[in-house]
Amino acid sequence: METRGLDAIIHAKRCINMKEVAVLLGTGSIGQAIIRRVGAGKHIVLADLKQEYADRATKILEDAGFETSTIAVNLGSKDDILALAEHAQKFGPVKNLVNAAGVSPSQASVQDILRVDLYGTAVLLEEFGKIVADGGSGIVISSQSGHRLGALTEEENSQLACSPVEELMSLPFIKAITDTLKAYQYSKRCNVLRVMYEATRWGKRGATVNSISPGIIITPLANDELHGPRGEGYRKMLRLCPAGRAGTPDEVGDLAEFLMSEKGRWITGADFLIDGGTTASYWYGDLQYLKATH
Ligand SMILES: NC(=O)c1ccc[n+]([C@@H]2O[C@H](COP(=O)([O-])OP(=O)(O)OC[C@H]3O[C@@H](n4cnc5c(N)ncnc54)[C@H](O)[C@@H]3O)[C@@H](O)[C@H]2O)c1
Repeated sequence: METRGLDAIIHAKRCINMKEVAVLLGTGSIGQAIIRRVGAGKHIVLADLKQEYADRATKILEDAGFETSTIAVNLGSKDDILALAEHAQKFGPVKNLVNAAGVSPSQASVQDILRVDLYGTAVLLEEFGKIVADGGSGIVISSQSGHRLGALTEEENSQLACSPVEELMSLPFIKAITDTLKAYQYSKRCNVLRVMYEATRWGKRGATVNSISPGIIITPLANDELHGPRGEGYRKMLRLCPAGRAGTPDEVGDLAEFLMSEKGRWITGADFLIDGGTTASYWYGDLQYLKATH
């Protein structure tokens, strides 16, 4: 009787300390810009492949009044994703998921890009679709790169959207990929299709999930590229795109904030291109010369 009373007190205390939880995987500039906009008053879980990156983000966010915890997670590992879901639930109901983790064509091999960006994102959406709270929302950062791939067949679309996660990497047209740019483009296209499929599952729990496909966003890495040996090519592309400049992490953050807010409750399973018109120009404008290489 006494033990039960004590248990009840411990449980009640835990409930009082529980907060809504916002999970960020990939603590770079885009991820931080989003989580700052949706994480106030919540417990923010900062997850990254590199613990030191998560720690760096914690310092910035805690100094700005947010409550955080950190965990090292490899998006390419199902076990790590399950550990992330378990960690997040310790603090309360999981209200938000932001996936801003990923590797780009110049950073990784074909296999690593497919493992992290394509397979890992699919597993993450599936596992968080099992625990996301009623009224919750998720965002996956895809890329304008996915919009540079020509049309896939209905069968290929459906396979990328709905295949069991463990079969994704064995799809014949995925196994046939040999260059990193194609691996990245297929992964980002898969993110968008997977979000459509997952929206049908997340909706049953009262949650929304969308993807955002950014163009070039200035981050420390992008800034290095702009001023590095291939800088002139990038600067020309930005000059010629309709907006005439690169984007900022905050502009992506503003879009994500809207999608994750009460005003965005009727938006789910959708992809939002935010690229200053670069994709429009790539297909039909001054940037068509990029088709040969990008
Ligand atoms: N910056 C751009 O111009 C741009 C444009 C389009 C799309 N994106 C996409 O936005 C996302 C975020 O990129 P960013 O520009 O903020 O880059 P970033 O390098 O600043 O952030 C990415 C973060 O992901 C982490 N990460 C890498 N591999 C991981 C893994 N296996 N598991 C967990 N974490 C991992 C990195 O450590 C890093 O902290 C990526 O998916 C990228 O493809 C970026």
